[in-house]
Amino acid sequence: MKKILVLHGPNLNLLGEREPQIYGHTTLEQLNEQLRRYARSQGLSLKIFQSNHEGALIDRIQAERHWAEGIVINPGAFTHYSYALRDAIAAVALPTVEVHLSDIQHREEFRRLSVIAPVCITQISGQGPQGYRQALKRLQEQSGATR
Ligand code: DQA
Repeated sequence: MKKILVLHGPNLNLLGEREPQIYGHTTLEQLNEQLRRYARSQGLSLKIFQSNHEGALIDRIQAERHWAEGIVINPGAFTHYSYALRDAIAAVALPTVEVHLSDIQHREEFRRLSVIAPVCITQISGQGPQGYRQALKRLQEQSGATR
């Protein structure tokens, strides 16, 4: 798999200054640069997009559905309640990896449920920025088959 859409959900634009004790000090731009560097070393093509808006994320998934061969998404708080985002991922039927910087199983109760996870091939949580690279690797291993 070569072409991967990387999506960051709400409030992830504030990485670096947002609750650094939970999300760390790496900014979104630094994180994206790490991903671009990894992608270059692997011959992957990435399109990276962040939005605070549910509909904008859904629009991007739909718009890139014929270009992308896989999706890496950190849906932010949409993880826990956005059936619309879940339906968009199911609709395009691209192998999708869900990523969380923090360990969502060991925080507040409401974060334990992901309505996105059932339409993803795996969930990577609590690995910090490294989790995104793991997600790209997971998609590279994917044999091009859809979910
Ligand atoms: C998050 C975890 C979510 O619960 C939270 O709403 C976020 C970030 C993470 O990366 O750890 O915005 O997805």
